Amino acid sequence: MRFGFSWLAVGVCLFFHPNVNLNLAQSANILAIFPFHYGSPFLVARPLIKTLVKRGYNVTLISPQGLPPNIKGVRHIRVHKLNKRMQEIIETDKILDFLINKWMESIMAATMYFNMCQDILSDDGVQRMLKDKREHFDLIMMDASNLDALYGLVEYYNATLIGLTSISVNWYTEELAGNPAPSIYEPISQIGYSRDHSILSRIYNWIHINEERLMEHLVILPAQLQVFKKFFGYSDQKFYELRNRFSVILVNNHFSLGRVRSNVPNLIEVGGLHLSESPEPCDKELQKFMDDAENGVIYFSMGLDILVKFLPENLQQTLVKSFAKLKQRVVWKNEIFSMPNKSENIYVIEKSPQRHILAHPKVRLFITNGGLLSVMEAVDSGVPMLGLPIFFDQFGNLRWGQTAGMAEVLDINNLKEETLTNTIRELIDNPKYTLRAKKMSKTFNDRPMSPLDTAVWWTEYALRNRDVSHIRLKVEEIPLFLYYRIDRFVPFFLRFGLIAASVIFLGLVFFRKCV
Ligand SMILES: *[C@@H]1O[C@H](CO)[C@@H](O)[C@H](O)[C@H]1NC(C)=O
Ligand SMILES: *[C@@H]1O[C@H](CO)[C@@H](O)[C@H](O)[C@H]1NC(C)=O
Ligand SMILES: *[C@@H]1O[C@H](CO)[C@@H](O)[C@H](O)[C@H]1NC(C)=O
Repeated sequence: MRFGFSWLAVGVCLFFHPNVNLNLAQSANILAIFPFHYGSPFLVARPLIKTLVKRGYNVTLISPQGLPPNIKGVRHIRVHKLNKRMQEIIETDKILDFLINKWMESIMAATMYFNMCQDILSDDGVQRMLKDKREHFDLIMMDASNLDALYGLVEYYNATLIGLTSISVNWYTEELAGNPAPSIYEPISQIGYSRDHSILSRIYNWIHINEERLMEHLVILPAQLQVFKKFFGYSDQKFYELRNRFSVILVNNHFSLGRVRSNVPNLIEVGGLHLSESPEPCDKELQKFMDDAENGVIYFSMGLDILVKFLPENLQQTLVKSFAKLKQRVVWKNEIFSMPNKSENIYVIEKSPQRHILAHPKVRLFITNGGLLSVMEAVDSGVPMLGLPIFFDQFGNLRWGQTAGMAEVLDINNLKEETLTNTIRELIDNPKYTLRAKKMSKTFNDRPMSPLDTAVWWTEYALRNRDVSHIRLKVEEIPLFLYYRIDRFVPFFLRFGLIAASVIFLGLVFFRKCV
C-alpha cells in the first residue's frame, strides 16, 4: 500500500511539475538529401525518415522523381534531372573503361557528382525553397558521398550536418568524420587492388589508395568547389571548413560483419537499419513451392539492378544446367520466364520477396552478387552464401562472409558448370557453413539497441548538441610528429646513437693505437 502511494506521489509531482517535458521529441525542421537513383540508399534512409516524421519532425526530402515513392508526412522536392544521371553512366559506351581504369572511373564519377549538384541546386523547387525567407532548417541529413558543393546549404541555413551512408565505411567517410588514420586501409574502388600480403602488393596497394586521395583532390573536389562558388558565393576556405562540419555519420556497417576498425565517437554503426521495415509479402504459389521442397531451397538473385538479360547467354546456360543437376528446388529472381533448357526444379519470379524467402526454414543457400543489403539479409537470416560479385563493394562484402566461413566466392567471368555445381553441393552438404551462418546471425542481432533506435537517438543527439567540437577528433591538435610519437623516439635514438657513436669511436681509437 505504501508503495502504491509513493508511486501516486511521483505521478502527481511529474504531472504538476512545470519543467518536465512530456513531449518525447522536440519539433525541428530537417532537410534530407538523397539524390542517387537506385534502391539501396532509400531502403536505408526510409525507416529513419518515417520514424522522424512519427516523432513530430518536419522533414523535407530532396530526391529523384518517383524514388522513393511518397512518404506520408514528408514534403517531397523531386529533382527530375537526377533520374537520368546514373542512367547516363550505365549507358555510355565507356562503361567498360569505367570499370577497368581507375582514373577514367574517377573522371566519370567527378562529372556525375558535378552534374548532380548542379541539377539539385538549379532545380526550380530547390530554388524556390532557397529564396523563401520563411524556410529554415535545424538539421541537414545527406549521403556522405562526394556531393561536397551541397555543404553550402549547411552554412546557408546555419544547420547541423549529419551523414547517412548505405555502403559500408571507407577511408573517405572516415576522413569526413574526422578520422585521418583508419586502422584498416581499403580503397574505395576495387579495380586493380590486390589483397595478398606480400611486400610488393602492400606497396602497390599503398600507391593505389594514395592515387584515390589524389583523384579526390585533383579531380573531384575542384569540380565541386566550382559549383559551390557558383551557387553560394562563399570562399574556398569556407568550402574546406564545411567539409569538417559533420556532426554524426551513421554508417551501414556492423563490426560483426568483419570490418572491425578503430572508430571515432561520431561514426555510428547502424548496419541493418533497413531490416526494421517489415518484409514484403509472399504469394501463395511461391510459399507452397518452398514449403513442399523436400530437399531444401536455393535462392538465386543478382540484386535489384542487374537483370538476367544483361548476363551473357552462355553464363545463363551454365546456371540452368547446373541447377538442373541439383535435388534442391531453386527460386530464381529472373525477368526471363521462358529460358531454354529450364528444369522443373526452377521457380522463376520477377520481383522476389527476398527477406521472406531468406527467412523460410527450408532455404539452404543464397546465390548472390553481394550487394551490402543482400549480404546483411543473408546474415540476419543465417543463410550461407555463394557469391558472384560483379562490381563496387560487392567483392569486399563477400570476402568478409568468406573469411567468416559462411560463404564461398566464384569468378562470374570464368564460371564452369562443374565448379558451380560442386561449390553449391559443398555449401549445402557441409554443415559448417550453416553453423557459421547461424552464429553470425546471432552476433549480428545481439545489440543494446536496434539499428533504428540507434539512428534516431544519434540524430536527436546531433540536434541537441549543435556544437560538434566535443565529438570530433581534433586532428589539427595532433601534428604528425606527435601522432607517431616521434617526439618520444627522437631523444631515445639520439641517446642510443650517442652511445653507439662513442663506442665505435673509442673502438676505432683503441684499434688504431694497437695497430
Ligand atoms: C512544421 O510544420 C508545421 C506545418 O507546416 C508548422 O506549423 C510548424 O511550425 C513546423 N515546425 C517548425 C519547427 O517549423
Ligand atoms: C547559428 O546557430 C548557432 C547555434 O544555434 C547560433 O549560436 C548562432 O548564433 C547561429 N548563427 C547565425 C549567424 O545565426
Ligand atoms: C539445351 O540443351 C541442349 C542439350 O544439352 C543443347 O544442345 C542446347 O544447345 C541447349 N540450348 C541452349 C539454348 O543452350
